[in-house]
Amino acid sequence: MRLGILGVGRIGQMHARHAMDCERVTSVTLYDADGVRATELADQLRAAADATPARSDSAAAGASNAARSSVAAGASNAAGASVAGGAAGASGVRGGGPRPRRPKPVEARGPSLDAVLADVDAVLVATPTPTHADAVSAALAANVHVLCEKPLALDPALITELHHQVPGGVHLVVGFQRRFDPAYTAIRAAIAGGRYGTVYVARATAFDHAPPALDYIAGSGGIFVDQFIHDLDALPWLLGERVVAVQATGSVLVDPTFAEAGDVDTATVTLRFGSGAIGLVCGGRRNGGGYDNRLELFAEHASVCTGLDGRTPLTSLEPGGPAPREPHAHFVTRWARAYRHELEAFADVVDGVAENPSPPLDGLHSLEIARACELSRRSGREVRIEADRSLR
Ligand SMILES: NC(=O)c1ccc[n+]([C@@H]2O[C@H](COP(=O)([O-])OP(=O)(O)OC[C@H]3O[C@@H](n4cnc5c(N)ncnc54)[C@H](O)[C@@H]3O)[C@@H](O)[C@H]2O)c1
Repeated sequence: MRLGILGVGRIGQMHARHAMDCERVTSVTLYDADGVRATELADQLRAAADATPARSDSAAAGASNAARSSVAAGASNAAGASVAGGAAGASGVRGGGPRPRRPKPVEARGPSLDAVLADVDAVLVATPTPTHADAVSAALAANVHVLCEKPLALDPALITELHHQVPGGVHLVVGFQRRFDPAYTAIRAAIAGGRYGTVYVARATAFDHAPPALDYIAGSGGIFVDQFIHDLDALPWLLGERVVAVQATGSVLVDPTFAEAGDVDTATVTLRFGSGAIGLVCGGRRNGGGYDNRLELFAEHASVCTGLDGRTPLTSLEPGGPAPREPHAHFVTRWARAYRHELEAFADVVDGVAENPSPPLDGLHSLEIARACELSRRSGREVRIEADRSLR
């Protein structure tokens, strides 16, 4: 898969590093409105790859494959830029142990997006949320597969429109990374298989360690659409049922800039599901201990959790209780496994060997819930989702 990465800011850079490690990706083309940023990243990835130790025979075989695949990515540049895929010491997602890395070309392209789209099979859209729709539309019009960062769009009508734009044989996958995380998929399978019995409460923790750049806030869509959306997508997906009502509250405790944008930086949400099961999400833009994204599920036959390990930024004050070593500071380390699986899963979808695990229309319900949360926070009342058509 010849992959273009559109937008190489916070998360685009991370995806680019994973793409360099992914065996299924044969070339990486970086595109950003800030061309210098894309060029610098391409240089860094090439340098990191050059620093990678000697390759095995299978990697050498990969070199000729990569050379062939590089033709469409711009022969002269790609030939000069042919590198061993992989930044720092990662291994493939499948098969456990480290694998030899195949050389693969990486280059920065611009300023024309059309030129990028003409030379790739798929793109990963990691531009700011308000620009997703244009980038996704352009890719779909060029018959290019798309993995788009969440949320696909902030307007439900736009999500539906993008869904209708997907040509036959082309796929549009939304990057809700929890859907690709092995711990979450295991919980989902156990619930669907009845192994946990009745689900009582699913409680998600969604704290950033430090807030994003302040100029990101105004275009983010607000805490529920931008930050809580992950758990608002994951909880109904895990439980296999829709949310019928929400109650939300929030405060500005981190930075007054959030209030100036009409937003809050710390919030809690209660979700009521059709079955009576209850979902809770608590989180915010800053947490002194670190980046804390977890899920706890309390059910008839089990209590299970995700995100609880030696790096969870939570210190027990019980005698002998655990304290974190190297607590997570951001999403890059906390969700590394999920992002790698996401890319593999996307390649499976592109290759036609797997169903789309995160199709665009699934995002309509999470957006509806997020908008209901905002309405509830502002009004101070419970909002019933099915009854309020303004949320659609
Ligand atoms: N899945 C997750 O855990 C997760 C985490 C962080 C961000 N995100 C999502 O990723 C997206 C990007 O977030 P970020 O924090 O990396 O943003 P960012 O501002 O750090 O980076 C965005 C990059 O896109 C570039 N850009 C802006 N407009 C562009 C355009 N029209 N065409 C090409 N490049 C353009 C900018 O120059 C910048 O380099 C957002 O939609 C955000 O919601 C998802």
